[in-house]
Amino acid sequence: MSVIVEADPTRAETLRSALGPGVPVLGSIDDLRRHLDAHPGEDAVVLGPSVDQESAFVLSDAMRIARPSLGIVLVRRRIDTPLLVDALRAGVREVVEERNLAGVNDAVKRVRDVAAAMRQRSNHGDGEESGRGVVVTVFSAKGGCGKTTLASNLAASLADGGRREVCLVDLDLNFGDVAIVLQLFPAHTLADAVPLMENLDLPAVAALLTPHSPGLSALVAPVEPGSAETVPASLITTIIGLLREQFAYVVIDTPPAFTDHVLAAFDQSELIALLATLDIPALKNLKLTLETLDLLNYPRERLRVVLNRADSKVGLALSEVEKTLKVPIALHIPSSRAVPASINRGVPILLDDPNHPVSLAIRQFGEEHVLPLTRAGSEPIPSNLRADRRGLLRRRSKA
Ligand SMILES: Nc1ncnc2c1ncn2[C@@H]1O[C@H](COP(=O)(O)OP(=O)(O)OP(=O)(O)O)[C@@H](O)[C@H]1O
Ligand SMILES: [Mg+2]
Repeated sequence: MSVIVEADPTRAETLRSALGPGVPVLGSIDDLRRHLDAHPGEDAVVLGPSVDQESAFVLSDAMRIARPSLGIVLVRRRIDTPLLVDALRAGVREVVEERNLAGVNDAVKRVRDVAAAMRQRSNHGDGEESGRGVVVTVFSAKGGCGKTTLASNLAASLADGGRREVCLVDLDLNFGDVAIVLQLFPAHTLADAVPLMENLDLPAVAALLTPHSPGLSALVAPVEPGSAETVPASLITTIIGLLREQFAYVVIDTPPAFTDHVLAAFDQSELIALLATLDIPALKNLKLTLETLDLLNYPRERLRVVLNRADSKVGLALSEVEKTLKVPIALHIPSSRAVPASINRGVPILLDDPNHPVSLAIRQFGEEHVLPLTRAGSEPIPSNLRADRRGLLRRRSKA
């Protein structure tokens, strides 16, 4: 349910016309507080242009602790960056311009989706306790091996049409394409977390997510290339920590490089899926990656090697590959033209064609390697001496 606060009758009617005739209109924040006490199921509040900004922020700040699932949509005559920063800091979920009535309606829908997800999670949450979400990172040091394909389809498979709450995070901060692959039109990206930094809390992170399909949300990468430098690795640690409080599974897509952001994700991952294709450069990179992760003390039992396009007729025998790498291959994803076709359509193949061999392979990987994991079974890897680890990587890359 949603409610509008707007003292001006004409503006109130305009807002009501956007949201539907059944939505109640209240004249003041005091009225709203009484209304909220009487209606614990309310999950979206639209504060109209006449509501004083300071009172809106005070209310929002109080509600993120008292009622974290309640989303506040602030409607203003004009929007600028300082207003957006202050609003996000106060825990306002969405700020929309008064003339953008469709935007108000969309914002209320997003806020209600987040509220529904939060309620569902706290009601049954698939059995996990809060804070026990499992983190899976998909990585390969070589570009184009299929990381985004695996991450997006694995996330869709784990969400299973709404059975579980899953968040897909795009850590490819400069060239991330999760938004394109899932055909999302995000209102926010990971870059919006930067001004919030230590004020970041669960409702603030939830406000940055874009819902995709039942059970599946995404935290997409910044739109501007070059944003990676503005995002400190500690922020990634905070974001993953918050997301795992809310989501049963957090699946992380990565850039093809050992960045500080990737290391921050590895530190919190119960499972790291390492991808390669059946060609010598990709396999050489995979071998180097395995050696590097050994050097950084990531336990081998958290690593899974995945071969993508594994049936390509390139003359390399799988058994030879396993022998050379000295690790078992956990998953073979077959090569199929249906994969790029699904990407062009903006629908993960797993949702579009659940019985396709690529979909079946990825679902099986989820069932065998991800669903049995619990966070309780593996403590986060202590990230002491992070600077030394970077030094280690630098020395290694020069060697
Ligand atoms: N199993 C497959 N069969 C056929 N094509 C595939 C398969 N997996 C991935 N592709 C194609 O390979 C290309 C690269 O895939 P993807 O974007 O998932 O790789 P990536 O590792 O995320 O790349 P980047 O390093 O650029 O982020 C895409 O065009 C995708 O459609
Ligand atoms: Mg990618």
